[in-house]
Amino acid sequence: MVAAPTAQALALAAGLIRAGRLVGMPTETVYGLAANALDVAACTSIFAVKRRPADNPLIVHVLDAAQASALGDLGPLGQRLAEAFWPGPITLVVRSRQGGGTIALRAPAHPVARQLIALSERPLAAPSANLSGRPSPTTAQHVAAELAGLVGLILDGGPTTVGLESTVVDLSAKVPVILRPGAISPEALAAYGVLATAAGDSHAPSPGTRYRHYRPAIPVVVLVDGPNQSAAQVIDEWALVLAQAGEVPALVWVGDRRPTKWPGRCFASSAAMATGLFAAMRELETKATVLVVAAPPAEGIGHAIRDRLWRAAGGVFRIAGQLPSVDLGKGD
Ligand code: TXA
Ligand code: MG
Repeated sequence: MVAAPTAQALALAAGLIRAGRLVGMPTETVYGLAANALDVAACTSIFAVKRRPADNPLIVHVLDAAQASALGDLGPLGQRLAEAFWPGPITLVVRSRQGGGTIALRAPAHPVARQLIALSERPLAAPSANLSGRPSPTTAQHVAAELAGLVGLILDGGPTTVGLESTVVDLSAKVPVILRPGAISPEALAAYGVLATAAGDSHAPSPGTRYRHYRPAIPVVVLVDGPNQSAAQVIDEWALVLAQAGEVPALVWVGDRRPTKWPGRCFASSAAMATGLFAAMRELETKATVLVVAAPPAEGIGHAIRDRLWRAAGGVFRIAGQLPSVDLGKGD
C-alpha cells in the first residue's frame, strides 16, 4: 500500500519497523526498503524480498554522527566528512563496533526518512527498494510496481531529487577510497584525501558492485565522447543502424532537444540526467527494444552517471566516431 507521509502513516510505518516488517521509504537519493537494522530476521527478509545475494551488505541509516558512532568508529576523517556532508548522499564504510567487520552508515537528508528513523527509534537498514539487478526506484510507484504485496507500507515522499544512490566511501582501509560514486563528487572528496575510482577500474569494489546492476529489461548501449565527436552528436546514427536491424531504439542524452522519431528523454544538464535516468529506463523499456544513451562528461555527478551506465551496459562503453554496430550482447 502506498501512503502519503501523514503523521498517521508515519506512526503506522514506525510500528511496522518495530514489529520487524519492511517499509518503503523515500530518501533524497532513491527509495529504500527499510527494516530495523538491529533485527536480524527483519534484515534477512530484505534479502529475500529483493532476491539480493547474501554477501552484499546493507547500508544502515541514522540521524547523525552521534547515532552513527554508536554503531561504528567514524574516526577523525569520518567525523569531518559527516560534518561536511551529513545529512546527505554519502555513505561511510567504517569499522563496526560489533565484531571485527565493517559497517556502512549514512544519515539521509529526506525529511520522511528522518522522521521514520526518529519515530521508530531504530537505525534503519535500507538498500534501494528494487529487485536485485534492476534500476533503483525514484518514485513510490516504482517501488509498488516491483514490490507491492511484499512490503507492509510504502511512504510516498514524491520523486527523489538526487536520483542516483549515495557516494560510498571506504574509511576502513589504509587509504580512504570511493567504492561507488554519487552526488558527493570525487572532486569534492579529493579535498579530504579520498581517492577516486572510475567506471571500469579493476580496483577492489564494494561487494554490491560485483553484480549485474541498474539493468532495464532491454539492452543498453552507452556512447561516450570520442576525440572528434560528442556522444550526443552520434546517437541518431546509432538509432538509424539499430532501426535498420529491426530494433526499436530509444534515445537518452544531455543537450538540446531536437526532433527525432524515436522515443527518448533529453535532459538539460548532467544533474537533471542523474535525477531522471532510472525513471527514463523504466519508462523506455516498455516502448523500445534497445536504449541508446549518450554519457555525460566524467566530471561532478557525471562520474556517478557513467558508473551506473557502465554497469547497465554490462561493462561496455562505445566511443563516438567508431562505426555503429548492432551487436547488443543479447547472448550473455
Ligand atoms: O543512496 C543510497 O545509498 C540508497 C538509499 C536507500 O540510501 N541505498 C543503497 O543501498 O543504494 P544498496 O544496498 O542498494 O547499496 C549499498 C552499497 C552496495 O554496493 C554494498 O555492497 C555497499 O553499499 N556496502 C554496504 N555495506 C558495505 C560494507 N560494509 N563494505 C563495503 N561496501 C558496503
Ligand atoms: Mg541497490
